[in-house]
Amino acid sequence: MYIRINSYKDINNIILVSKIVHKVLNYIYKFIKPGISTGEIDYICYNKIVNYYKAYPASLGYMNYPKSICTSINDIVCHGIPRYDEFLKDGDIINIDISICKNNYYSDASKMYLVGNVKRKYINLCKVTKRSLLKSLKHIKPGNKLNLIGNSIQNYIDKFGYSVVREYCGHGIGKKLHEDPFILHYKNNYNISFKEGMIFTVEPMINIGSYKTKIMKDGWTVKTIDKSFSAQYEYTVLVTNNGYKILK
Ligand code: MF3
Ligand code: CO
Repeated sequence: MYIRINSYKDINNIILVSKIVHKVLNYIYKFIKPGISTGEIDYICYNKIVNYYKAYPASLGYMNYPKSICTSINDIVCHGIPRYDEFLKDGDIINIDISICKNNYYSDASKMYLVGNVKRKYINLCKVTKRSLLKSLKHIKPGNKLNLIGNSIQNYIDKFGYSVVREYCGHGIGKKLHEDPFILHYKNNYNISFKEGMIFTVEPMINIGSYKTKIMKDGWTVKTIDKSFSAQYEYTVLVTNNGYKILK
C-alpha cells in the first residue's frame, strides 16, 4: 500500500476544490423540497459545477456511473442514481454526495437533507450520524492509529442501537478520487498511523436496523437489507502537525 503525503501545493489545491464541493452542497439546500426529482437536483449540481465553477463532477463516468452526484433517499445507503421519475416527498431524508475534480485535484463530501416534515426518529438518526463522524475525527493526529476512527464511530453508534455499514468505507483522496488508505467505520485492528499531510474521507453510513446491504439491479444503488432507513455524512480531512482539519 502506498499512502501519498500531500505537499503544500497539493493541500492548497485540495482545499480549493473542497470549498467548491461545500458551496454546491449549500447551494442546493433551497431546492430540496417535496416534488422535486432527484434528476433535477443532479442537473442543478452539474450546471453549477461545470458552468459556474469550471470544474468536473468526478462521479460522472466513474466506472461508468451515469450521473454527477449520488442521491440516496431513506433506505438507500449510498450510490443512489438520480432520476427524473423519482420525486422527493414529505418526510423523506436524503443524502447528497458530491465529488468534484478541479485542476486535477479531487474532493468528496456528503450530507443529509430533511424533506418537509420528518419524523423525530429519522431526524435523530441524521444527528447521531453526524455526531459520530465529528467525534471520530478528534482522534486524528500524527502518530495515532487509523483504527481509532472506526472504533470511535462504532462505540458511539452502538449506544443508540444503530448499526454501522461495513461494505463501504472512507478513502484517501487528492490526485485521484479513491486512493489508499481505506478508512473502516466499524471496529477494526488496522495497524497504520496518521502522518501529517495525509488526506482522506471519513463517511460513516449508519442504519437504524441491520448493517447488511444489497445492491439493486441498476448495479449501483445500495439499500439496507431490512428496509430500515440509513444516514451518511462525509468530510474530506487533512492530518495537520498536531491534529486535523476538515476541508471545506
Ligand atoms: N462519492 C462516493 C464516495 O464516497 C462515490 C462517488 S463515485 C460514484 O466515494 F460513482 F459512485 F458516484
Ligand atoms: Co467518498
